[in-house]
Amino acid sequence: MSKITAVRGFKDILPEETEKWHFVEEKAREVFATFGVKELRVPILEKTELFTRGIGETTDIVEKEMYTFRDRGNELLTLRPEATASVIRAYLEHNIHATEPVAKLYTIGPMFRRERPQKGRFRQFHQINVEMIGEKDPRVDAELMLMLVTFLSAVGLSDLKLEINSLGCPKCRPAFRETVIEFLNGKEEGLCEDCQRRLKTNPLRIFDCKVETCQTIINTAPVVLDFICAECRTHFEKVKAYLAMFDVFFAVNEKMVRGLDYYTHTAFEVITESLGAQNAVAGGGRYDGLAKELGGDDIPGVGFAIGVERLISLLPLNDEDFSTAPHLFLAALGENAQQFAFGIMNQLRLSGIRAEMDYSDKSLKSQMRRSNKLRCRHTLIIGDRELEETKAPLRDMQTSEQKTIAIATADTIIEELRNSGI
Ligand code: HAM
Repeated sequence: MSKITAVRGFKDILPEETEKWHFVEEKAREVFATFGVKELRVPILEKTELFTRGIGETTDIVEKEMYTFRDRGNELLTLRPEATASVIRAYLEHNIHATEPVAKLYTIGPMFRRERPQKGRFRQFHQINVEMIGEKDPRVDAELMLMLVTFLSAVGLSDLKLEINSLGCPKCRPAFRETVIEFLNGKEEGLCEDCQRRLKTNPLRIFDCKVETCQTIINTAPVVLDFICAECRTHFEKVKAYLAMFDVFFAVNEKMVRGLDYYTHTAFEVITESLGAQNAVAGGGRYDGLAKELGGDDIPGVGFAIGVERLISLLPLNDEDFSTAPHLFLAALGENAQQFAFGIMNQLRLSGIRAEMDYSDKSLKSQMRRSNKLRCRHTLIIGDRELEETKAPLRDMQTSEQKTIAIATADTIIEELRNSGI
């Protein structure tokens, strides 16, 4: 029978990688807590309409990438392609605005987009997503970005680039839209098929097209920053000033538009040169009209999402930092030592010490190899003589230094191990 494999673009995260995932998630929880951001867990399945209305009918995500299906009750459902729309839905559904003037919420989990799989791009991927809802003060935009760079440096990534832009608001954006349409008038032939369609449905999406000919054309187009109204400009200037206050290094990228339609005012991305075409590690911005679009009151918000797979692929490779390798390997030679070690190993575990052994009673050499393979920090070598003398050699696997410790009971062993820095 043929083997069943995972769905294309859907990845298993293997045990040697999950330690990094835990490290990243723990750091996120730690940093977010200092900024007063609390966790909200939302479902991965939502009514399709949430995303068509939230993200925008004519975005790539909604037009081409959603996993949408009718369930057995004929309801049209979608596996979430992002978290923002779900978070706002939950925020409105549970009336969080009635009790919290500013709700700061994070959510971590899988997202689904049927894109063409390639390096850094999957069909199931994970995001660490943060939303700050209820306040339009530019200080919130700044604290959000400050938190993002603080988190990135806490996981060892301080050399990434933060790019920001302002995308205007419903008052000033229509004029920019018209100017882009005018600019592209007569240049339609040079655009890809998708962009020819976008020209009619959503011309600003052309800025995001990866096709080279489209890029060449749109590169000389007017930029949104030249069209934003006084209110948008003031907001943008304040955001920049607040970022500078905390020495958050950023560059203005006036070509950035982001791939989702809900953005107003601030938009930003964290990019890297080392990920090839998929260079965005995180992206976000302000979305002051989204709550209203989803049937709620006119409540502003700003947020970001980090692509966890991309982030992890950039982590400086120092496995020690992520290690949950055993503290101790018990190399037990002979039946009596095996029995003794089995008891001790589990007593150590119950005391919070990560301990392992091998049940096959192989040679000492082979058990040492196993200890090395598991990256154990120490190995305790026990044979009949050691049992008799209630003393055994404890070997530091890195320095190869060995010392004799008392092994009369689990407690004496624990004490000795603690003295040895375990
Ligand atoms: P986004 O730019 O679509 O924004 O996604 C954010 C990040 O998710 C990207 O920068 C990237 O690192 C990662 N990502 C996106 N698609 C894939 C993929 N197919 N494979 C791997 N990683 C991927 C949003 O989703 C917005 N909801 C962010 C936001 C929150 N804006 C306001 N609040």
